[in-house]
Amino acid sequence: MMGNPNQPIFILKEGTERVKGRPAMSANINAAKATAEAVRTTLGPLGMDKMLVQGNTGETTITNDGATILREIDIEHPAARLIIEVSKNQEESCFDGTTSAVVLTGALLEKSEDLLAQQIHPTVICRGFRKAEKLAQEELDKIGWDCSLEDLRRVAGTALTGKSAESASDTLSSICVDAISAVKDKDGTINTDNIKVLNFEGGTSLESSLELGVLIEKEKLHSEMPPSVNDASILLMNKALEIKDTKFDAQLSITDPSQINDFLAQEEAALKDMAASIGLHGVNVVFCQKEIDDLCIHYLAKLGITAYKRIKQSDMDALARLTGAKFVSKVDEITDEELGLGHVSAVEFGEHHCTLVRSDSATSVTVCLRGATSHSSMEVERAFDDALGVTSIAFSNKVIAGGGAVHSHLARHLRKESIKDGSRVGMAIEAFASALESIPRTLAENAGLDPVDTLIALRKAEGTTHGVGVDGEIIDMVEEGVIEPRKVVSNAIGCATESAIMILRIDDVISMKGAKGAGMPDMSGMMG
Ligand SMILES: Nc1ncnc2c1ncn2[C@@H]1O[C@H](COP(=O)(O)OP(=O)(O)OP(=O)(O)O)[C@@H](O)[C@H]1O
Ligand SMILES: [Mg+2]
Repeated sequence: MMGNPNQPIFILKEGTERVKGRPAMSANINAAKATAEAVRTTLGPLGMDKMLVQGNTGETTITNDGATILREIDIEHPAARLIIEVSKNQEESCFDGTTSAVVLTGALLEKSEDLLAQQIHPTVICRGFRKAEKLAQEELDKIGWDCSLEDLRRVAGTALTGKSAESASDTLSSICVDAISAVKDKDGTINTDNIKVLNFEGGTSLESSLELGVLIEKEKLHSEMPPSVNDASILLMNKALEIKDTKFDAQLSITDPSQINDFLAQEEAALKDMAASIGLHGVNVVFCQKEIDDLCIHYLAKLGITAYKRIKQSDMDALARLTGAKFVSKVDEITDEELGLGHVSAVEFGEHHCTLVRSDSATSVTVCLRGATSHSSMEVERAFDDALGVTSIAFSNKVIAGGGAVHSHLARHLRKESIKDGSRVGMAIEAFASALESIPRTLAENAGLDPVDTLIALRKAEGTTHGVGVDGEIIDMVEEGVIEPRKVVSNAIGCATESAIMILRIDDVISMKGAKGAGMPDMSGMMG
């Protein structure tokens, strides 16, 4: 027998929420726009910072970095989380440009709302955006130049502007370029693993410096150990230098007090043997990842061997790369092959006692950043990490003008193409062009200027280098020294297009029971 044809069929579990069609799309677009809005005001040299406060611990982070802001704030809406992916992708592949990528995604979605309101189908918009992106990337491939050392310094400087590290921009960008030049291979590859960045609280970022070698925040363990050793034979121990099993063997039943003394004497002899086996191989310096027993330290000092304990894994790895030493886990397994070679010296950093290890055959450098408080030194470190990454990209990539210059050039280029196209797809290309202008527009807004005046002036400009200067006037950004790797811009355009399209293609949001952020977004609590 046939069932009632009017009877609704439930295919979804009870409690599942479903939003379909335009309301679903609007909700997603609004959530994505609100996310972009949250970082908009931080864009550019005059962008503001955000203070992020953890609800449960009250711990605060002060930052201008788009990716950091979006990582730290608790965003629930699924479409908004797609935007966070944009900033993550941008950060992972380019280190910088995360705010721009997010602002661009928001702008693409905002412009597509206008098209949707004119009854242009989302798939047509997507097709137009894809075409526009392709045209923009092709045009982008035509511009840019190989950078000189001076340009590299400017790239680092551009990445540092707007961050609290900006005041020491000259010092930090020189450090950045020197560090990268130092670890560059003969074939031009840059191994950023060989650049260690340390962050010392106290002093100002102007006092930051670059040390040739691996700097370790540890000092020698005994006053009688030599503080500096040239041409040292170096042992890297990754297990503790102590008698491990005492706790288990403590079950031994002792019947006579003299047995305790025997036991301790045995232990002492074993520790002395340990030091002696190390000495036997002509080792001058021991870096131990774990603990070293006090008695063993005493015997090592007697043998004139300098020792350090509780060295971080990352430092052990850096020392292995630098000195050629291999990790040893038992003293009786030491052979000459496992030992490395280097120069070890004690150095002071303000109140910090550290040890510097250098080598003649390999290069590693340590960047010592300074900041007055832990908050400022952490933000300096974040900015420096970005600058370092961007500068290493610029080494192997072309560079272009910043300050929204390239975005407005691409917008002008796409407008010409959209006129040629003359269809609905052309309207989407035009919308894409306007979205690209969100970068110079936001830079102008954040500089306190009228964004429309700026856009009109930029539309009249020619060439690929006129952008929005710090004071908001339209100037040649290359003359101003504001340049960035082409990849930062092309990757941002690529990611922003991908995720805008992804969001535009969704017309049905089905939220399972208990899903976070189901249904319509409530972004009212977000920062703007
Ligand atoms: N001195 C300057 N004058 C004009 N524009 C500048 C200057 N320095 C940087 N810019 C521009 O500012 C924009 C970058 O701003 P910002 O560093 O705040 O954001 P982002 O790089 O997109 O993201 P984030 O650094 O947070 O990952 C780029 O368009 C860059 O060209
Ligand atoms: Mg930046």
